[in-house]
Amino acid sequence: MTASPDPKAANQMWGGRFASGPDAIMQAINASIGFDQRLYAQDIAGSRAHAAMLAATGILGDSDAQAIGEGLLTVLSEIETGAFQFKVELEDIHLNVESRLTEIIGDPGKRLHTGRSRNDQVAVDFRLWVRDQCDQAIAGITGLMRAFVAQADVGADWVMPGFTHLQTAQPVTWGHHMLAYVEMLARDRSRFEDARARMNECPLGAAALAGTSFPIDRHMTAKALGFDRPTANSLDSVSDRDFALEFLAASSICAMHLSRFAEELVIWSSAQFRFVRLSDRWTTGSSIMPQKKNPDAAELLRAKLGRILGATVALFTIMKGLALTYSKDMQEDKEQVFDAADSLMLGLAAMTGMVGDMTANREVLEASAASGFSTATDLADWLVKTLNLPFREAHHVTGTLVALAEKKGCDLPDLMISEMTTVHPGITQDVYSVLGVQNSVRSRLSYGGTAPARVREQVARWQAALG
Ligand code: ARG
Repeated sequence: MTASPDPKAANQMWGGRFASGPDAIMQAINASIGFDQRLYAQDIAGSRAHAAMLAATGILGDSDAQAIGEGLLTVLSEIETGAFQFKVELEDIHLNVESRLTEIIGDPGKRLHTGRSRNDQVAVDFRLWVRDQCDQAIAGITGLMRAFVAQADVGADWVMPGFTHLQTAQPVTWGHHMLAYVEMLARDRSRFEDARARMNECPLGAAALAGTSFPIDRHMTAKALGFDRPTANSLDSVSDRDFALEFLAASSICAMHLSRFAEELVIWSSAQFRFVRLSDRWTTGSSIMPQKKNPDAAELLRAKLGRILGATVALFTIMKGLALTYSKDMQEDKEQVFDAADSLMLGLAAMTGMVGDMTANREVLEASAASGFSTATDLADWLVKTLNLPFREAHHVTGTLVALAEKKGCDLPDLMISEMTTVHPGITQDVYSVLGVQNSVRSRLSYGGTAPARVREQVARWQAALG
């Protein structure tokens, strides 16, 4: 990028009424080309659709429109090959492209901006970019869902402790735990699908804010750019950034889910838990402690939500006080969305790799599932079903048995029947059948429950849905 802060030169694109150019610091605060050059492909696509429409409606001569269309392709290839010189004094991607176009094709280039403004231009460019990111997020989430389903398929009946408050609650299956994330990710995916459908209206042709007196055909440009229809209110068209906010909100929720699993991985891969082994590809060593294998990717994923949520709050704050319609504040929308999108896509790719590579430690999981009196609820349920005890009473009897086992330093299945009958005389040998973790999970057959039979049904459902 070249900066030429010549204070005497008025801006060639809008400087007619200006005697001098901007101060160098004004130029620095005003320019967005440093970041909005990422919109070059969308900007050129929007301009090509606009020029074709201007010709079809007779606003522009065919030869001018053709020169513009071809010239824009030359600009595109210059940018893609790195030959293009972005100029800070031309502020943004729109003026950089238009100015270079005119350098290449001469006078016809000066007619491109007929019936449009940078306000509707940036609105359409940014929408196209965010729409594409929705598609990328949907694809990335789908890949991660597949990785979780594959884990669930392998370990549909592996028993592990289920937690509430991070305290042992009840035995669950590995497959069930993996599929919990598939459900979350499916909701994330549908949020991006919803947002995409809602944002798919074309603001081009709203011009500065009021529409235009040229007989433009907004339906034509909307169609050419893959939108469902043009936006219906020109004021709203140039002042709306809901599409970016929805993208950020959906990204934040998705990143929150990634962060929760990242937290589980950090805990599970520790020497104290040993529930999973992360592969060498997704861990790092310590420069001083030779035994270390750190779950850095998981930790960074946990942190990514901080950035994404920060971007979301930033854009809400930028937008909340703006009277209609466009204000320059809105130029600050892009860096937030760019950073959040990059963080989300990288996070999804990293999580997909980690989940695909990780190995659950089946023996450790099962042993851990049996500790912490995890089948106490099964015991209480047995008392209800077999002895017809009211659940509250069964709960109390079980609590007394847990206290007894705790005092003896053993688990529930280690209590002798003679010890159990001192607490309740009706308890029989049959009770031991429900105290094992395998029987516990197998019994939880209610719809959506953790029983391997139910998990296998859900795995099959997701495999069919994800292809
Ligand atoms: N660079 C500007 C942005 O990103 C483009 C729109 C500028 N419009 C204007 N009237 N100055 O928002």
